[in-house]
Amino acid sequence: MIEGTQQTPVPDRPLTEGLAWFERSSRTVVGGVKRMNLLDDPAEFPCFFTHSAGGRTWDADSHEYIDLIAGKGSVLIGHTEPAVDEAVIAAIRGGSMPPLTPTDYPVAAERLCAVTGMGNRAKFFRTGSCAVTAAVRIARAATGRQTVLTCGYHGWHDWFAERDKNPRAEAPGPVVEFGYDVQTLRELLAATSPAAVVVTPEPALFDLDFLRQCAELARAAGALLIVDEVKTGFRAGPLGYAALAGVRPDLTVLAKALGNGYPVSAVLGDVAVMAAETEIHVSGTYETERLGLAAATACLDLYAARTEAEHTAYQAACQQLADGLNRIFATHGTGAHACLGPGNTQIIFADQEWATAFYRACARRGLLLYCFDDVNLMFAQTGMVEAILDIAAAAVAAVTTQLGGCPPLTVDHLAAYLNRHRVLGKDQQQAGRVLERVRARLGWARP
Ligand SMILES: Cc1ncc(COP(=O)(O)O)c(C=O)c1O
Repeated sequence: MIEGTQQTPVPDRPLTEGLAWFERSSRTVVGGVKRMNLLDDPAEFPCFFTHSAGGRTWDADSHEYIDLIAGKGSVLIGHTEPAVDEAVIAAIRGGSMPPLTPTDYPVAAERLCAVTGMGNRAKFFRTGSCAVTAAVRIARAATGRQTVLTCGYHGWHDWFAERDKNPRAEAPGPVVEFGYDVQTLRELLAATSPAAVVVTPEPALFDLDFLRQCAELARAAGALLIVDEVKTGFRAGPLGYAALAGVRPDLTVLAKALGNGYPVSAVLGDVAVMAAETEIHVSGTYETERLGLAAATACLDLYAARTEAEHTAYQAACQQLADGLNRIFATHGTGAHACLGPGNTQIIFADQEWATAFYRACARRGLLLYCFDDVNLMFAQTGMVEAILDIAAAAVAAVTTQLGGCPPLTVDHLAAYLNRHRVLGKDQQQAGRVLERVRARLGWARP
C-alpha cells in the first residue's frame, strides 16, 4: 500500500529523554550537538540515539526507526554486521594499538587494491577529510605543481575550506573551485597547470560523462585526477563509481562504507604516484591502530563476496525506493523529486518548510530520513522498501492535510537546492551552464 490518502493514527512519540540529553549536553558541548547533527528542532526530530541493529536504530526515548541516515551514509551493509563487528572485537582483544605497524595493515592494503582494482598502493587514515587532504598533498609532491582544481565537498580541512570560489580571479589562489562546470575546468587547466583535479561525483545529479570529461581534460593537461569516492564508494558496486564511467583515477579516496561505520579511510593509486608520499609528511599516531583496518578488511571481503544477484537486488531496491517516492509525490501533487544515480538518491523539495514537516512526519512514524536530502539505503534494508514507502505515503498525506500541497518544483528550486549543497559556483554564467546540465540529466522540462 503506497498510494492513497489514508490517515492512520500516529503513535505518540514524545522526545522527552532526547530533550533532557540535549539540555545536559548543552552544558558541556557548544550548541548541544554539532550544528550539522542538529537536523531540526530537538523537540520535533530526534537528535540523541542509544543503539542500532540491522537496518534499524533507537533514539534516547527508545523509539524505533528504519534508519536511512545510516551514519551519514557510512553504514552501507547494516548496523551490527556480525562479520565486521567480530573482526573489530578480535582486534580489540588482541591489543588495538601495536608498537609499530600491525600485520593488519598490508592485509587491508592488499584487499583494497584487489577488490577495487584502483591501484597497487594504499595508505589508510581515519576520516574522509584526512584522506582527501593526503591525496592532494601526494599529488602536489608527485607533480611538483601546487594548484588544485576542485568541485564538490571534500571535508572540513583548511586546503578545501580556503579554496578560491571565483574562477575568474586575476590571481586565483592555490585551490580553485570549478563548480562542476566543464568549460570553467577547461579554462582553468589552460591557465594554471595544476597538480590535480579533485572531483566528488554526485551520481544523482551528474551523469557518467561528466566524470569522463574531467578525466580526459585533466589527463590532456598533465594534471592528476583524484576522485573523491568517500560518499559513492562501494554503493554502485565494489569497483566504485569511477569504474562505472570507465575512468581509472590517479588517486582514489575512500571512507564511509569502507568501514561500515568504523572510522577508516584510504587513498589508493599506482606506485608511480603514491611513491611521492615518501617525500612529504603524511602520518599520524593512529595510523597503526588496528580497529579501522580490521573493519575495512572484513567489509572488503563482504563486498567482494556479494553475488551479482545481491548487487542487482540492492540497485533494484534503490530504484524501487526512488520510483515509489516519485509516485507518492505525483499522487499528492507534491513539488518534490527523488533523483537517483548509481547507489545515490537525493530528494529535492520545492519548499523547505514543507520538507521539514515531511521529515518530521516520517520520524513520528518510525522512519529517519536525512534532512540534508541524501537517502542512504543499506544492504540490510533491501527488503524494507515497501515499509519505507508506506510511511512516506502516510507522511506526505499528513503534511498535505496540515500545510496544503507543496508547490510545484521549478528549475529555480533546483538552483536553490544546488546552491544549498554548494554544487554551483559563484560565477553566474558558469552556474547557469551547470544548472542546465543537471536539469537535462533529471529530464525536467526547460523553463
Ligand atoms: C565526498 C566527501 N568527501 C569528503 C568527506 C569528508 O569525510 P569525513 O566527514 O569522514 O571527514 C565527505 C563527508 O561527508 C564527503 O561526502
